[in-house]
Amino acid sequence: MCGIFGYIGERQASEILLGGLRQLEYRGYDSAGVYVAGSGSVRAVGKVAMLEQELLAKPRVGTAGIAHTRWATHGVPSVVNAHPHTDATQKIWLVHNGIIENWQELKSELGASGVVFASETDTEVLAQLIGSLYQGDIATAVRSALARVRGTYGLVVMSVDEPDVLVVARMGSPIVLGVGTGEYFVSSDPSALLAHTRSVVYVEDGELAVVTRTGYTILNQSGSTQTKATETLTMDASVVQKNGYDHFMLKEIFEAPEVVRNTIRGRMTPDADEVVLGGLESVHEALAALKRLTIVGCGSAYYSGQVGAHLLEQYAGIPVSTEIGSEYRYKRHFVEPHTALLAVTQSGETADTLAAVKQAKADGLLTLGIVNNVGSSIARETAAGVYNHAGPEIAVASTKACVSQLTVFALVSVFLGRMREMSEDEAKEILQGLEALPAVLETVLKTAPAIKTLAEKYGKYTDMMYIGRGLYAPLAYEGALKLKEVSYIHAEAYAGGELKHGSIALLSPEFPVFAIAPENELYEKMVSNIAEVRARQSPVILLTTEGASGASEVADDVLFIPKVHPALQPIVTLLPLQLFAYYVGVARGQDVDQPRNLAKSVTVE
Ligand code: AGP
Repeated sequence: MCGIFGYIGERQASEILLGGLRQLEYRGYDSAGVYVAGSGSVRAVGKVAMLEQELLAKPRVGTAGIAHTRWATHGVPSVVNAHPHTDATQKIWLVHNGIIENWQELKSELGASGVVFASETDTEVLAQLIGSLYQGDIATAVRSALARVRGTYGLVVMSVDEPDVLVVARMGSPIVLGVGTGEYFVSSDPSALLAHTRSVVYVEDGELAVVTRTGYTILNQSGSTQTKATETLTMDASVVQKNGYDHFMLKEIFEAPEVVRNTIRGRMTPDADEVVLGGLESVHEALAALKRLTIVGCGSAYYSGQVGAHLLEQYAGIPVSTEIGSEYRYKRHFVEPHTALLAVTQSGETADTLAAVKQAKADGLLTLGIVNNVGSSIARETAAGVYNHAGPEIAVASTKACVSQLTVFALVSVFLGRMREMSEDEAKEILQGLEALPAVLETVLKTAPAIKTLAEKYGKYTDMMYIGRGLYAPLAYEGALKLKEVSYIHAEAYAGGELKHGSIALLSPEFPVFAIAPENELYEKMVSNIAEVRARQSPVILLTTEGASGASEVADDVLFIPKVHPALQPIVTLLPLQLFAYYVGVARGQDVDQPRNLAKSVTVE
């Protein structure tokens, strides 16, 4: 889950490559490097800004080149492990996003033939393999090398002897070509091309593109030329700017009202009594006959999926199980008729979730997606689905995508519910609640200063326990994940009733508890759980709905949120959890947009 960029044209490549890396930095930021044809490579440890410093000292001149920002999988972040990697002759230069699974096998084979390796990376093995096969035609050498490789890759390769050729290849990791006027670009993510062009060509698994100064040729796995039409990017360039906010994370939290408007736009009939989901129309019949659903996702998307499972069971009457992406395909699956798999993913590129979708397809299941990134691998792999329309999410910690995922689950619950037992009145209540939701979220965002104060008070602790019940147990996990991601505080999460079966042993005056308990049928149970943790002198924050009985008595600090329809209450509850984590991260001086050890989309399994 690195970011790779390439350029060939008339302009100086260095600055264009740096610009591309700055846009892709959320994909990995432990080291970076460029290679400019005819001028050589420069690499640096740390963020792209460090590479920029190096390039000021060692400028690279030329109008074609490749670049990379890294999230280490093999070998520590260092200059020798940074990309671009080269071969023994220093003729071949490449940048790679993904994992070469049979790298050790290839390494010992090449080693036996005298090749000496400079780095600890799997990627250098590929560079050396291509170098060992190179006979003056870089595209042929890359194709022969890839025929021997197992694993995932998004790849751009250049040869010193062919300075006007970029060879691009894809298997599993995203890569897209940008078509400009007399110039061409390569990127891991289309949003990094917006500064240059809106015309793109998505490279599919097994395809190889040969890009020159005059055009590009796409070859399929058997080497025959493919004609591929360009597609036009519709996203607005400003979405990848901070627009005056200190961090992308805060900007994206404050986008919640607009995100809900964009997610529901055109998806409800004017009287708000029916849901229209064009992306599911093609499988309408199968959905009407659906008997069982499995929701799969990773990280925050998994927790959104768990909330979604509650909603679909409660409001659409469909039995739903949830699975973590990285576990799904290693389990035995009991495939019954009328079952489907629904993948939830912001990036649409998470390798574990993609692998689960491919497994489900192989098992003959209908595959569906709730995806934010338009044109992404999972969107293209699934049979049908719903786009979030939340706009690109830049901050590594997912916030607005979760708000949109829960909004889509409310829409899908009504869509499937109306095909089953849901009454028109219930549908209307939920949909009218959705229409009114942006204004409710605006009022919650106005409480940000109070949440900031609370975060500064609790940000001094090194541990935190989140608890919730029912719909709010997954939100406890999501709250804890957000805090861990951006503040590095040790945060645990438990269903409120589960705490007393062991983890309550952790609690003490130094171990506060964040209790998530909007007033509903489980509120009283949660109040008893809060009493249990207060009996261990843990300071308690209670997040609940306005008017909740005795709230101020049962907790040290209370965050009140407006009460809305139970199917929509989780969306309102998310915002204070996201703001709290953000302000704790800032109070502790962390880089909340690019937390250590993380990357935005995890394209390796
Ligand atoms: C969430 O803040 C994290 N960035 C991470 O857990 C993320 O949710 C997970 O990697 C799944 O990503 P996806 O939604 O792009 O598939």
